[in-house]
Amino acid sequence: MTDPTPHPLGGTLPMLHGGDIPRLGLGLFRTGPGAGTENAIRWALELGIRHLDTASMYGNEEEVGRAVRASGISRDRIFVTSKLWNDDHGHRRARKALEASLERLDLGWIDLYLIHFPVPHLRRESWEVLEEALDEGLVRAIGVSNYMVHHLEELLGHARIPPAVNQIELHPFNARTRSGVVDFCRRRGIVVEAYSPLTKARRLDDPVLREVAEARGRTPAQILIRYGLDKGWVTLPKSSDRNRIRENADVVDWSLTAEEMARLDDLDEGLAVTWDPTDAP
Ligand SMILES: NC(=O)c1ccc[n+]([C@@H]2O[C@H](COP(=O)([O-])OP(=O)(O)OC[C@H]3O[C@@H](n4cnc5c(N)ncnc54)[C@H](OP(=O)(O)O)[C@@H]3O)[C@@H](O)[C@H]2O)c1
Repeated sequence: MTDPTPHPLGGTLPMLHGGDIPRLGLGLFRTGPGAGTENAIRWALELGIRHLDTASMYGNEEEVGRAVRASGISRDRIFVTSKLWNDDHGHRRARKALEASLERLDLGWIDLYLIHFPVPHLRRESWEVLEEALDEGLVRAIGVSNYMVHHLEELLGHARIPPAVNQIELHPFNARTRSGVVDFCRRRGIVVEAYSPLTKARRLDDPVLREVAEARGRTPAQILIRYGLDKGWVTLPKSSDRNRIRENADVVDWSLTAEEMARLDDLDEGLAVTWDPTDAP
């Protein structure tokens, strides 16, 4: 079936390999097993979202695959990410884990496969497995998540194929300016993806954020998503609620002013709502 949406909602960014990546995705951590995940995906696809962010650790790859197949939208119009979990590093285990993800998703290929976290010791071997999978066409792009500058430098020192993407926690309350990781990625053409862009809803009541939102007639969540997009990050808000998915998608035909961005930049407090890999060896 042809896709009634000519372009992914929010547009796309080019990657070093693997084609273009839709800038607005749907996060799928804790969307629940079964219908929860499948409904969220259906509602997001109806709105034109064409990027789904899952992981073997989320336990919902089968549901993701089912929802994509049920959509009737052709496979190559939907961008699906999955991730290699921490227990699955090393040549043999990483290959097995990737094959298991491919089987659970049952979508033919994975658009982007990430190392979920820079686990020490075996991550180099795992990267080689990802490179081979890219050569074989099992995955269309490979990348990393939670990599800070020292992890990226190590990887770029041995990689035959550089990572197309680095997925890290990013929002105004933790823009990682001091760590320099965002700049490092930009200089090397690595696409930056913002996870937990809504701070897992922990700072939606921040007075400055609320003020910016009220002045624009927008919600705090919309301001946070727009902040990520205006920074040039692929942005991955999660919701399993139909109204909030709609609210979070209503972010594409406007942007924040330089003054609003500056006010939000000032909120940086180094808040990590998920993981802080800064000191991970
Ligand atoms: N690579 C990694 O290590 C990593 C780590 C964390 C996250 N991620 C990815 O990034 C995605 C997003 O991050 P996240 O799930 O940690 O958190 P998030 O997107 O920052 O926040 C999700 C929370 O905000 C609520 N919410 C969503 N829209 C809202 C709105 N408009 N108004 C008020 N509340 C709203 C959600 O509840 P409802 O669902 O009830 O709406 C949920 O509790 C994940 O799902 C996952 O795909 C990756």
